[in-house]
Amino acid sequence: WPITVLPSINSTNTECFYLLQLGARPPFAITSEQQTAGKGRRGREWASPFGRNIYYSLMVTLKNGSQQLEGLSLTIGLAVLKTLKKIGINDVGLKWPNDLLVNNKKVCGILIELQGDPADLYNVVIGIGINVNMPSLSLNIDQPWTSLQQELGQLIDRNNLLIELNHSLAHYLDIHTQQGFEYLKNEWEENNVWQNKTVNLLQGNQVTTGVMTGIDKTGALKLLVNNEIQHFNAGEVSLR
Ligand code: BTN
Repeated sequence: WPITVLPSINSTNTECFYLLQLGARPPFAITSEQQTAGKGRRGREWASPFGRNIYYSLMVTLKNGSQQLEGLSLTIGLAVLKTLKKIGINDVGLKWPNDLLVNNKKVCGILIELQGDPADLYNVVIGIGINVNMPSLSLNIDQPWTSLQQELGQLIDRNNLLIELNHSLAHYLDIHTQQGFEYLKNEWEENNVWQNKTVNLLQGNQVTTGVMTGIDKTGALKLLVNNEIQHFNAGEVSLR
């Protein structure tokens, strides 16, 4: 897919929808040196300083109804994880549904947005933010974070990283769309940061505590609560 590199944009996700409206045909990708209104999940802001990190959005069209949506964010997490491992980040893990953590600090976030009818043909923008050479000064981030530079002790070449990321995304999206998320389920669990740990799941203001036994073939979280496995499609997980 073609990749457009921009100097500055409000949000690469928003720009993808805008280009779609102008007639661009998926798949296509956008990356930018900075974002002036980077979006995180749950209406949060995503810190997006100039020239330091990767802000990348890929627009794809999914065809087989909502089925392909299941587990998509987990598949993307896995694709990014493999990319980071390839450049030498060894102790990176996946936090359900789609954060990447190194020593419990966030290094990558993923924001997937939809347009169209999930029961039919719809467009999905896959937004990926990776803290690459993030400066540590004067940033107001509301959670523990790290960067690839901090972890490896050297500046990281973002061009090389982007190439690897593209390869990895193509590979994992292929498996996801051709064979389904269930073929990636085991690989996801092997890289689950909190596999078999006791966690809290926050949904609205309700907290469920249980042992994270893994995920099911749709990507839903499986918690062992009172000797019974329960499946959850949404929520925020934290270590108890
Ligand atoms: C999260 O809250 O963890 C998701 C963060 C997603 C950030 C990326 S950066 C590229 C794309 N454009 C955005 O505005 N957000 C996503």
